[in-house]
Amino acid sequence: MKTVSSAALFLAGLATASPLQQQETRQSAGPYEITNFSASKVHLSGYCNYAFDVSAPGLSSPAHCKAYLDSGFSGATWLALVYEGAGNCDNEAVTWTFFQPTTEGSGATFNVTVNEVKGTYAVPAEDITVTLNSEPNPFDNDVAYSGPKDFAITEFEE
Ligand SMILES: *[C@@H]1O[C@H](CO)[C@@H](O)[C@H](O)[C@H]1NC(C)=O
Ligand SMILES: *[C@@H]1O[C@H](CO)[C@@H](O)[C@H](O)[C@H]1NC(C)=O
Repeated sequence: MKTVSSAALFLAGLATASPLQQQETRQSAGPYEITNFSASKVHLSGYCNYAFDVSAPGLSSPAHCKAYLDSGFSGATWLALVYEGAGNCDNEAVTWTFFQPTTEGSGATFNVTVNEVKGTYAVPAEDITVTLNSEPNPFDNDVAYSGPKDFAITEFEE
């Protein structure tokens, strides 16, 4: 009960603090529910694997999306850029991108577009784990998303 009432207060605070236009956009777009999200660099390789499912208003069933892309360097401490058009989904109404700056310890931006409405999600830096396996040999660094596998995208842009 206590959690519910403080969440309600928090939401009420957000509603008064946010511009009206943004509220309307959020309501029409609805949340995009991401499930089973994974992103990781293949050990001793520069390639990264991405996979997730997305449910959204306007999709009759969840879409499955994936990508396999090069981060440019097998010793990368970042996840590979998924540029526009590189993220595959089994539903052509869905596209997505992922960008993590190469600066060590950066978070990432994950954008999912459904029927031309783009949702954006900020992946916190602490949700991406970098493991430096060997100091003298940077080629076997491991990088992986370690945050929640299921989350909602609630920020939208027209
Ligand atoms: C979750 O993702 C992993 C890795 O892509 C996959 O092997 C597994 O089957 C998925 N689980 C579900 C429930 O979709
Ligand atoms: C995601 O969308 C935001 C807002 O439009 C944009 O600034 C950012 O560059 C996009 N990121 C990627 C990886 O496409």
